[in-house]
Amino acid sequence: MILFFSATGNSKFVANKIAEYLADKTISLNERIKSENYSLKSFSNPLIIIVPTYAWRIPNIVNEYLLKTPLDKYIKTYFILTCGDDSARADIYVKKLCKHKKLTYMGLKSIIMPENYTAMFNIPDQDEAQKIIKKALPDIEKTAEIIKKGQFIEEKHTGIIKSAIINPLFYTFIVNAKGFYTTKNCTGCAKCAEVCPLNNIHIKQNIPVWDNHCTHCMACINRCPFKAIEYKNASKNKSRYFLDTDNHSTLLYSR
Ligand SMILES: Cc1cc2nc3c(=O)[nH]c(=O)nc-3n(C[C@H](O)[C@H](O)[C@H](O)COP(=O)(O)O)c2cc1C
Ligand code: SF4
Ligand code: SF4
Repeated sequence: MILFFSATGNSKFVANKIAEYLADKTISLNERIKSENYSLKSFSNPLIIIVPTYAWRIPNIVNEYLLKTPLDKYIKTYFILTCGDDSARADIYVKKLCKHKKLTYMGLKSIIMPENYTAMFNIPDQDEAQKIIKKALPDIEKTAEIIKKGQFIEEKHTGIIKSAIINPLFYTFIVNAKGFYTTKNCTGCAKCAEVCPLNNIHIKQNIPVWDNHCTHCMACINRCPFKAIEYKNASKNKSRYFLDTDNHSTLLYSR
């Protein structure tokens, strides 16, 4: 069983590929987190959790969801973290999660995919994004083979300061919705509210209003069809990124 969380399509893309190789099925945690559905019954062995890297660990909302959700004990559990660069020592924290949930930890693999953190970094253009995705494919296949054989994923992880010290500072000082606003391009279509996994956006008088429990997943700003959302001054004149795996096999839009 493959569980994935994905704001802009990268982790969903990897989850779909792994599911193809293993003839397994995927479950979206976005919908479950959004609807506060904490039941995950009768899943098959192994459990494969595929999520983006947020500040060098798995996203806090995924960690919290898994802590609250009953899971079968002693099931072999693999983690695949998509990232723009690296996931540092995220392994330490998923091992802790496994210990707490009595899951059998089988390793963590980082897969470099296009950066989606529009509020902080530059987003690759379409050509560059395509190249990054193409480069990731052999790694995804290799990871699927290891999982198929029931082997442990061996990967060297470094960067304890990022995961242990910067991660909590990041959530305390950076992560909030105060910087989001809409431009005159907003049509009130409500796509941003639909894709927010935390129901943090409400449409009032045809305009989105951000509440105060944002996790900075970047789904709203990247997936607005009219590029009508900005974050402080950081996102101006930058591309938006979304890898659409639903409509085609892969439809990349980075503009
Ligand atoms: C809040 C936030 C924090 C991020 N932190 C990291 C990070 O620590 N290391 C990294 O390499 N990429 C980081 N990224 C980039 C994403 O992990 C990467 O683009 C990921 O593939 C996005 O997955 P998705 O499309 O499935 O949402 C971050 C992105 C966001 C939105
Ligand atoms: S998705 Fe964009 S256009 Fe639609 S309501 Fe949100 S900000 Fe406005
Ligand atoms: S408000 Fe936007 S960035 Fe914050 S959690 Fe919702 S979709 Fe993600």
